[in-house]
Amino acid sequence: MLDFAINKVHDEARQGEAFAPFKNDANEYRKKFYIESYGCQMNFSDSEIVASILHENGFGATGRFEEADLVLLNTCSIREKAEQTIRNRLHIFKQQKRNKPGMLIGVLGCMAERLKEKFLEEEKLVDMVVGPDAYRTLPLLIEEAETGQKAVNVLLSREETYADISPVRLDSNGVTAFVSIMRGCNNMCSFCVVPFTRGRERSRDAYSIANECKDLFVKGYKEITLLGQNVDSYCWKDEQRDEIITFAKLLEKVALIDPLLRVRFSTSHPKDITEEVLQTMSRHENICKYIHLPVQSGSTRILQLMNRAYTREWYMAKINRIREVMPDCGISSDIIAGFCTETTEDHQDTLSLMEFAKYDMSYMFFYSERPGTLAARRYKDDVGEATKKSRLSEIVKLQNRLSHQSNSNDVGKEFKVLIEGNSRKDENQWMGRSSQNKVVVFPKNALHFKKGDYAVVKIESCTGATLIGKAVD
Ligand code: 5AD
Ligand code: SF4
Repeated sequence: MLDFAINKVHDEARQGEAFAPFKNDANEYRKKFYIESYGCQMNFSDSEIVASILHENGFGATGRFEEADLVLLNTCSIREKAEQTIRNRLHIFKQQKRNKPGMLIGVLGCMAERLKEKFLEEEKLVDMVVGPDAYRTLPLLIEEAETGQKAVNVLLSREETYADISPVRLDSNGVTAFVSIMRGCNNMCSFCVVPFTRGRERSRDAYSIANECKDLFVKGYKEITLLGQNVDSYCWKDEQRDEIITFAKLLEKVALIDPLLRVRFSTSHPKDITEEVLQTMSRHENICKYIHLPVQSGSTRILQLMNRAYTREWYMAKINRIREVMPDCGISSDIIAGFCTETTEDHQDTLSLMEFAKYDMSYMFFYSERPGTLAARRYKDDVGEATKKSRLSEIVKLQNRLSHQSNSNDVGKEFKVLIEGNSRKDENQWMGRSSQNKVVVFPKNALHFKKGDYAVVKIESCTGATLIGKAVD
């Protein structure tokens, strides 16, 4: 077994982790595939399902596209910039194909449906286009493409959850893992392309989720993040027991696997997160006290145009309730600057709401119109680019201050930290996370911890992004 670099390309807001190592197993297989992933965690999780399907069909993973027989790009279309990046990569791969004519190039994921004709016919950039619900047909599509036909399957499904497929962990630290619990989205936020690229919402069999989590724990993993576009609307009927499994019940089921297994989840929709979920979180020490609760905008008028189904006041009340139930809960957000018709006043509402929520962290974007979305059809993208960018930079500046403030408040406190590995900057330091999802670094010392252990760390100082401390006995 050899170590190679993984082809992990983060969304511009989630940079910083590209090229983590993963085990390369290509030599044990007939053929080699290379997969590069863009966008959200859900997409990375899908790449692990694709890897599993390809393994079953004689393909091993490689971290070097130059030696691959099959090169795949798992794409994101959430913002325009992501699409341009993909196009540039495809041109590089096409050049490589000139040296290696048998090589196949495929586009997977969210861009598949919209750009299939362009990629296949107009620009002849790729041999295969496969949508997020069609990965089971990959082996057939590869066969088709091998005979020189253009292979396409972008059909969306109402049932597919890949429940029975055991994902191959591509770039794992061996401690933390992501588990998909549902696919698609029924929300129809007006800015968002996801309902069109990923289709209708469907929940995965709760037993298959619990089994996957148990299996990960047996293999030494200590933290599971349950993934879905909107986890709070998870709903699965256990036909045998005639019982509805809600997200709160699922969360509890996973938390009960073992007290040493931490559970996280993402993403929550403010309109759907229930009291039952908050109570379940507070009952179980191993359910992390952290909620990613995207607000998108602080203005009720803009929230209405975004079709978010809550007001500013309603959101604030939700934040208050979370803090009542779990005073130590970390809260983060997604924020969009410059949505259609946004005025200076609306923007000020976003800033003041951020101050109110005191977010520990946020993913911040300026609005980018996506073809086919409700907003693209109904509203004019009328906030100029310069205004969007200056509002975004104000939002980023404020978030930096809030993150620093939040971290400063933790100095002097003790946190239970799950060790994920060496600190990136200094291998004499451990890096881990607190329950609140904050990155904590501390010196390796005579206490002989190892990766995957829990350590209690007393925080002595901080930066905006990191807590710095010492392990206590
Ligand atoms: N423009 C800008 N940001 C967007 N997001 C989703 N769609 C768009 C868009 N068209 C952001 C939202 C969402 C996150 C995943 O991406 O904040 O929560
Ligand atoms: Fe991007 Fe959304 Fe698709 Fe994830 S689901 S890859 S964020 S478009």
